Amino acid sequence: MSEPPLSVVRTVADLRAHVRTWKARGERVGFVPTMGALHEGHLSLVRLARERADHVVASVFVNPTQFGPNEDFDAYPRTEARDAELLASAGCELLFAPDVAEMYAPGFSTTVTVAGVSEPLDGAARPGHFAGVATVVSKLLMQAAPDVAVFGEKDYQQLQVIRRLVRDLDIPVEIVGGPTARAPDGLALSSRNAYLSVEERAAAPALARALTAAAEQLRAGAAVDQTEAQARAALEAAGFRKIDYVEVRAADDLARLGPGPVAAPARILAAAFLGRTRLIDNIAV
Ligand code: PAF
Repeated sequence: MSEPPLSVVRTVADLRAHVRTWKARGERVGFVPTMGALHEGHLSLVRLARERADHVVASVFVNPTQFGPNEDFDAYPRTEARDAELLASAGCELLFAPDVAEMYAPGFSTTVTVAGVSEPLDGAARPGHFAGVATVVSKLLMQAAPDVAVFGEKDYQQLQVIRRLVRDLDIPVEIVGGPTARAPDGLALSSRNAYLSVEERAAAPALARALTAAAEQLRAGAAVDQTEAQARAALEAAGFRKIDYVEVRAADDLARLGPGPVAAPARILAAAFLGRTRLIDNIAV
């Protein structure tokens, strides 16, 4: 069966007009926000949204406010034509691809900050990152007004930040987490994997291996502090240069756990550099 054609809109007004038409017919709208450079992980989120809605909208917007001054905003891959083809093949009908001026008009002065869950881990390693994410996601959810929005579990802390902000701001949308898509060797799919050299790509699956082994040890009753130390040592041995964190946290609010065995649903999360590329991953415990 051929997929419906994909329309591309660049203004909030055009986005709202499409969504309004669908909603007036009583049809459900799913939404998948992205920064483009799409891969199978994003497409799995689109398919998940399609299962839960009559129409899927995706956004492609490389959001400047969630990048730090020394991060890769300028270098971030921009591949809109290919992204549009992939989105259409996965069942997305509408692509919202605004420019920076459409999202941040002159004089823009509002920031959404989510205390608590956005503070540790990436929040500590990348100051300002989650304020940028929370602000743009709040805007996107109000612009697209979807019934359901799907975010990848690969960015697990981001997913928990978004769940919190939707609850706190009473945004009427169901947030769904999509499982992390992985390469056959276990590496979590990420647009930033494109930065890895051949040698770094060969070393990269050690991150998923270390977290998977740690999660198994924790399930078997191992202590948090020892498990974190072993996972960190495994990453160093595999050539990870700078390790921002390897930590076991409560699955919902990301509160610190340990030092002993875990007694409640938990997540082990890590962020570490291979060369200049920062990789993140996480596994449920
Ligand atoms: O996960 C991403 O790609 C981005 O952080 C998001 C949610 C699209 C906000 O810019």
